[in-house]
Amino acid sequence: MILVTGGAGFIGANFVLDWLAAHAEPVVNLDKLTYAGNLENLAAVQRDSRHVFVHGDIGDSQLVERLLREHRPRAVINFAAESHVDRSIHAPGTFIETNVVGTFRLLEAVRAHWSGLQGAERDAFRFLHVSTDEVYGSLAAKDPAFSEQHRYEPNSPYSASKAASDHLVRAYHHTYGLPVVTTNCSNNYGPYHFPEKLIPLMIVNALAGKPLPVYGDGQQIRDWLYVGDHCSAIRRVLDAGRLGETYNIGGWNEKPNIEIVHTVCALLDELRPKPGGGGYREQITFVKDRPGHDRRYAIDARKIERELGWKPAETFETGIRKTVQWYLANGEWVQRVQSGAYREWISTQYAQAA
Ligand code: NAD
Ligand code: DAU
Repeated sequence: MILVTGGAGFIGANFVLDWLAAHAEPVVNLDKLTYAGNLENLAAVQRDSRHVFVHGDIGDSQLVERLLREHRPRAVINFAAESHVDRSIHAPGTFIETNVVGTFRLLEAVRAHWSGLQGAERDAFRFLHVSTDEVYGSLAAKDPAFSEQHRYEPNSPYSASKAASDHLVRAYHHTYGLPVVTTNCSNNYGPYHFPEKLIPLMIVNALAGKPLPVYGDGQQIRDWLYVGDHCSAIRRVLDAGRLGETYNIGGWNEKPNIEIVHTVCALLDELRPKPGGGGYREQITFVKDRPGHDRRYAIDARKIERELGWKPAETFETGIRKTVQWYLANGEWVQRVQSGAYREWISTQYAQAA
């Protein structure tokens, strides 16, 4: 079996659902259920005996050691993190606790477990760390895309905390020989994406008749990848990635934010026309920019394509249409994640951005 951390969040839940749909192999899913973790994302596998959910913290060494001892997973895949850049600007402490200290404690528990393994079980063991392109910093308009050799230059408390965790993972390989691989992926989108992030926030606000808050001039560029393609890349790296290596994952889909928002509006105009007439674009509002806002990310995904033969299955056009359709079909999920804590975050963040 495998042990997944953070498997009740956006990417982790998609990974667990895809894994159990494609493999017989069970999953132990360790998640703290922060505001971003939602067991409803895993409703489809609630009664599947191959899915063992454990409510807990990656920083709880005793718990992690017990799970490793009892379940003897052949791999640990670490998705657990605080993941929202704006929240890291308002309150960086939890990012340091989970992304840095939590990853450190997880690595220590995994190292202790792996050191006691022998033979084929030891040889087969993997620790796969899921990271982000944001560790590389920001690109100018004409710079080449981030390759795995690009210097780390994180600019937000979030990206700095992820960079620190990547360095720890690297060090555990070089110092202790822990069999690790790290993936650095670009911006994901798709089902179960928490509506604090750009694409789901725009869909949800558009449908509610609320402003669509675009930071600054809306010309910042992100490189978008459908979440199912990120999950297939992680499965491929787990199967065949070289130990101690890092793999950049991306879909060659660089787009300015304003274009993303226009695309979402156009799809909603087509699929759920405004009852009173007019277009969703009328709701776009330019607001104060994010402090330290990175201008451009772009992933050079040639290494994973060349070495592991991975390619994304979705284009941006097919992926974004599926995503908008998913949100239209899952209004109840949206309503339920918009809890009191969510409403508090939205009023704090956008009062300051106005
Ligand atoms: P998310 O915020 O949606 O989910 C994070 C999950 O981790 C939640 O279920 C949360 O409850 C859990 N968690 C948080 N702290 C924990 C702790 N201390 N112990 C156990 N569980 C804890 O995040 P996401 O967007 O699904 O991102 C998952 C991973 O992928 C993160 O490591 C993130 O840095 C990375 N990543 C995200 C993107 C993206 O576009 N979303 C892109 C590249 C990489
Ligand atoms: O690049 C990978 C990263 O992508 C992941 O590591 C992070 O976990 C994930 O949250 C995401 O970070 P971003 O900061 O790029 O995503 P976000 O959805 O917050 O913002 C995308 C872009 O849209 C960014 O340029 C900021 C802008 N934006 C965002 C929000 C929430 C807006 O213009 N308005 C908004 O209301």
